[in-house]
Amino acid sequence: MAIIEEETVKVAQDGALVEITINRPKSLNALNADVLQGLLLALQKVSKNPEARVVILTGAGEKAFVAGADIHGMAQLGPRPIADYVELGQRAMRAIETLALPVIAAVNGYALGGGLELALACDIIVASKAAKLGQPEVNLGIIPGFGGTQRLIQRCGVGAARRLVYTAELISAEEAHGLGLVDKLCEPADVLAVSRNMGQLIAAKAPLAVQGAKQVIRRSQDDSLLAGLRAEVDMFLSLFATADREEGMQAFMQKREPRFVAK
Ligand code: CAA
Repeated sequence: MAIIEEETVKVAQDGALVEITINRPKSLNALNADVLQGLLLALQKVSKNPEARVVILTGAGEKAFVAGADIHGMAQLGPRPIADYVELGQRAMRAIETLALPVIAAVNGYALGGGLELALACDIIVASKAAKLGQPEVNLGIIPGFGGTQRLIQRCGVGAARRLVYTAELISAEEAHGLGLVDKLCEPADVLAVSRNMGQLIAAKAPLAVQGAKQVIRRSQDDSLLAGLRAEVDMFLSLFATADREEGMQAFMQKREPRFVAK
């Protein structure tokens, strides 16, 4: 595969397949503003690439796909910058969802918080049997802010969405497969190979037909999605202003249990 860029977001191309890798393994590929901007830029370039047919999105290293929004970065932000950041995240997720080409998430490890939301914005989720998935935001005094509340409902129903968001439980890829959250399970060493094979299978089909299918399948979901995404940002920002959010993020960074006071 030819490597086109080598930064926090790496892009490589092999014929019709474009692979985008979130590359911050020391932070378990947490999504800071640089990564989100890099992702938007990469998607913009892919959309102008006449040879590209399918995109595969994955995380660098063996431990994580993406462990969420960058908690260390978010903890520093005041009201205006956090609004800019959460809107940037929502834009990046929406850019995946509205990209003409299908996108396969190759989930090679933890897909948590914004990381699961990233996978949910993709068309198809392939996951390692060793992966763990979840929406642990309530541990931090916040809710998912990159579309998770809405796209989880669409993918696996309101019951599963409520359980995952309220309990912050991390579930196995096998359980996620049972919920319809993961589309295909594979051995940890095979995640990229299985995703590439699926990508080649799709790339061999009529491109306009595949892209037309993506567009109309999305159309069926958009009406309720767009209003829900706005409500999610508003709730995220009001919770971000609470003392419990401050405590939740401090507790994570100090590697201790949080003490919440409902304020
Ligand atoms: N943001 C920033 N840094 C993160 C991170 C995140 N989401 N997740 C992990 N890291 C960092 C850790 O701080 C640690 O850095 P140091 O080595 O400098 O201490 C490094 O990655 C390795 O992590 P751990 O030492 O914690 O590794 P572990 O194996 O003990 O635990 C884990 C792994 C269970 C994934 C744990 O790291 C974890 O719980 N991470 C946070 C998950 C989370 O809460 N995600 C949601 C974020 S909020 C969000 O995403 C909001 C939104 O919707 C917009």
